[in-house]
Amino acid sequence: MSTMNAAPSPLNTRSLTAHGPVIPVIVIHRLEHAVPMARALVDGGVRVLEITLRTPVALQAMRLIAQEVPQAIVGAGTLRTPGDVEAALEAGCRFGVSPGYTAALGRACRDMGLPLLPGVATASEVMTACDDGLDFLKFFPASAAGGIPMLKSLAGPFPEVSFCPTGGISAQTAPQFLALPNVAVCGGSWLTPHELMEAGDWAGITQLAREASALRA
Ligand code: 3PG
Repeated sequence: MSTMNAAPSPLNTRSLTAHGPVIPVIVIHRLEHAVPMARALVDGGVRVLEITLRTPVALQAMRLIAQEVPQAIVGAGTLRTPGDVEAALEAGCRFGVSPGYTAALGRACRDMGLPLLPGVATASEVMTACDDGLDFLKFFPASAAGGIPMLKSLAGPFPEVSFCPTGGISAQTAPQFLALPNVAVCGGSWLTPHELMEAGDWAGITQLAREASALRA
């Protein structure tokens, strides 16, 4: 099957911000969790899902969710190589997220038609991504790389850049990030805690999603 046929129409990563203030960063260890977890998030109003490429079942999980949960907008996280981009597209992902940025990854995403939300942590990395036409960027690891003071500092030289801070953010701290003019959305793993996933507590995940959907300081 051609990857171009498998993927629905491409989207602009900035359009992801229209669906709510939080993008969950999801680690799936058991394939059977994929669909009920995605449905639980969608039920709580969270449609944009970043599934990390960190577990052996990640690609199968993306494919299943893309097929079974049409309301979900599935993206692949932890993209590092052109091979990852190809695999994500084949799994039906509509966007990609990377922890950092390389020209090779940017080229692969452009060539293969996968919208990319690339990670940056410094001004130089912002400049590199902007040179390649990317101005909606993941700020990662947000808390460890300077948090809110760093985002305020980046707003001066990069007024056109919008960020999705991710890494070390919680339901309690997200509103402070979301209050910044250059923060469009936040990312985080708190919507899908390992314990709730293992317990199959899908109602609990829906509740966390509902609370996250309502966060906008
Ligand atoms: C990650 O690295 O898994 C993401 O950045 C999420 O980080 P968090 O678990 O601190 O939310």
